Amino acid sequence: MGLDCCWALKLVSGSLATKKMRHTLGVVALAEDLAIRHGLDLERVKLAALLHDLAKEIPLERQLVLARRWNLLHYPEDELMPQVLHGPVAAYWLEYCYELKDQEVLAAIAHHTLGFPGMSPLEMLIYSADMVEPNRDFPDVDNLRQALYHSIEKGTLACMKHSLEYLKNSHKLIHPLTTLTYEDLQRRLEFGT
Ligand SMILES: [Fe+2]
Ligand SMILES: [Fe+2]
Repeated sequence: MGLDCCWALKLVSGSLATKKMRHTLGVVALAEDLAIRHGLDLERVKLAALLHDLAKEIPLERQLVLARRWNLLHYPEDELMPQVLHGPVAAYWLEYCYELKDQEVLAAIAHHTLGFPGMSPLEMLIYSADMVEPNRDFPDVDNLRQALYHSIEKGTLACMKHSLEYLKNSHKLIHPLTTLTYEDLQRRLEFGT
């Protein structure tokens, strides 16, 4: 079977409960719309959006075991906040168990929770669509969506800023990758690289 969107939809609907599936389809809808708006490859965007939360319902202790086994732990915070592991775990699983080899799609899945310095437009799109898909409802969500229609880069920077402010205000742990990604994006926008 080809590793296309049909395959991905079957795989993910067998792995996620209804609520998560609803979120996933929300991410697909917004990501597709933004991909058309900004001229990104629709099939790859849809594939990444469908698969981004594939590992979300694996119990956290099991995700930690897998992340350790697959050498996916790089920061002390990875163990302190294991809810960030489902992206890298899903990407590894898809690459080595299903032979999905599209590195940009894999990176978009791996980096959708924390971001990653040097993110491509596809990675930014999945990161941001995950945060502001149509089922999300929080103050500013409409402004963030609008910002993404205007520019993927600036919209993603606005999403990251919002997320960092929320984490700071609620005294939650901030993963170093989120800070590094935010600074990287700021620098890239400033210098136009
Ligand atoms: Fe996720
Ligand atoms: Fe998600």
